[in-house]
Amino acid sequence: MKSELFINGAWVAAQSGGMIDVIDPASEQVVHQIASAEAADIDAAVKAAKSAFDAGTWSGMTGAERAKVLRNIATNIEARTEELARLEVLDNGKPLPEARWDIEDAAACFNFYAGLAEELDAEDAQNITVSDDRFTTRVVKEPVGVVGAIIPWNFPLLMAAWKVAPALAAGCTMVLKPSEVTALTALELGDIAQKAGLPDGVLNIVTGFGPSAGQPLTEHPDIDKLAFTGSVTTGSRIMQSAAKDIKNLSLELGGKSPFVVFGDSDIEQAVEWIMFGIFWNQGEVCSATSRVLVEDTIYEKLVARLELEARKITIGDGMDEGVLLGPLVNKSQYDKVLGLIATGVEEGARLVCGGAHTDICKGYFVAPTIFADVDENSVIWQEEIFGPVVCLKSFSSESEAVRLANDSEFGLAAAVMSKDDARCERVARALRAGIVWINCSQPTFVEAPWGGYKKSGIGRELGQWGLNNYLETKQITRFDDNSPWGWYLKQADNQTG
Ligand code: NAI
Ligand code: MG
Repeated sequence: MKSELFINGAWVAAQSGGMIDVIDPASEQVVHQIASAEAADIDAAVKAAKSAFDAGTWSGMTGAERAKVLRNIATNIEARTEELARLEVLDNGKPLPEARWDIEDAAACFNFYAGLAEELDAEDAQNITVSDDRFTTRVVKEPVGVVGAIIPWNFPLLMAAWKVAPALAAGCTMVLKPSEVTALTALELGDIAQKAGLPDGVLNIVTGFGPSAGQPLTEHPDIDKLAFTGSVTTGSRIMQSAAKDIKNLSLELGGKSPFVVFGDSDIEQAVEWIMFGIFWNQGEVCSATSRVLVEDTIYEKLVARLELEARKITIGDGMDEGVLLGPLVNKSQYDKVLGLIATGVEEGARLVCGGAHTDICKGYFVAPTIFADVDENSVIWQEEIFGPVVCLKSFSSESEAVRLANDSEFGLAAAVMSKDDARCERVARALRAGIVWINCSQPTFVEAPWGGYKKSGIGRELGQWGLNNYLETKQITRFDDNSPWGWYLKQADNQTG
């Protein structure tokens, strides 16, 4: 396990010597320590990224050359899938099969952006027609420069890949700050990238706390673009830092994603998607199915079926075979989720099942929790809980369902289920969210745009849109005529005439 900072291709200790404990959330044991970077370390990392960018060792390569390195990274990740997946479980708590899935998706993300890097070569210089035919104009895409990327703890390596792969494909250099809670696999990515042939200084990885490491990164004048995934509070603070130097910014923040189930739906299918939507990754998912709106004709039946299934879920250490729900990521998330469950009870929602899971004496375990008859103005209906807690409410008409679904400060994802295709299409268009699933919930594809409306963020990751985040657009216009342009002569004519 790595513990140092990866700066300019070398592993170095934090200048202050400070360290952060790595805690296994299933055992509550300290299993390792990582460096705690501060402003001086961040400055060294940003300088390395800026020198690498200015030297053109990466930004000056063709897309095809960069694609080769990105494919090597993907291959090296794949070759280490089992080891990386186990590190993820140790750090984050998620079940091992889900961690393997993350690692495979991270490798796929590098392969996908390798393809887009190659396409950049072909797309270079798109000609456009302007209104005066003596001029020719073309548009070229160039890397935005030095990127500062800050990521959360829920999908540690995958969230790194979502930012690193497109930024490198575009030709940017970067400083990545993983979450202090789950940095192990991101550190391995430094080693993997180096062995894949990435030049020194192109990708720097610094571990540290938000205020002491994240904040100086967001404020550094040599950062051209900030890319962030995490909470709304921190996202807002980062936007304020970015404002000072007018830094380019993309934000992927939280959600409170609704799932609208109409009465003609297959209840078993609905239950299966809701279970997956709220209980995979312990519900620590920005797009989690956290608000479920069910037509009153099937509401009680669905709540009962959901309770039956939720009670069957095997809870335990993510390393153990057959476990479907691991511990929450750390003590503070555990306290936050249990606090919100207590709030829900105080607010008068019906607690169908769940709460603290005390069968296992150690670890931050919360049982699958279902609240029914939740008031639309309550805290648990409006706030992101980020845990295995689902809130249900009934509705009696399509317009009421849409109104309730959209009554949120978030707009990341939403879902609708019905056998009536026309209704699904209508509702999908009426939902104010960046991602809408019809008859399913959560499937995510690297080819399709990911991001939210309202307080869920700014910009889109993944697909072509994810690459555009890291590209500047430049027009190059030339005058192709040998005759005089004539503007001055015309002005003179006008004045004398
Ligand atoms: P956070 O948003 O504070 O942390 C995310 C990242 O931002 C981490 O790398 C952290 O070190 C960094 N950071 C924190 N403060 C910073 C600052 N002032 N400047 C620059 N970087 C900073 O999230 P946290 O505290 O880990 O979790 C709190 C809540 O946020 C969760 O309970 C959950 O509701 C939400 N959350 C949402 C996520 C999402 O994907 N939408 C992911 C993680 C958390
Ligand atoms: Mg941990």
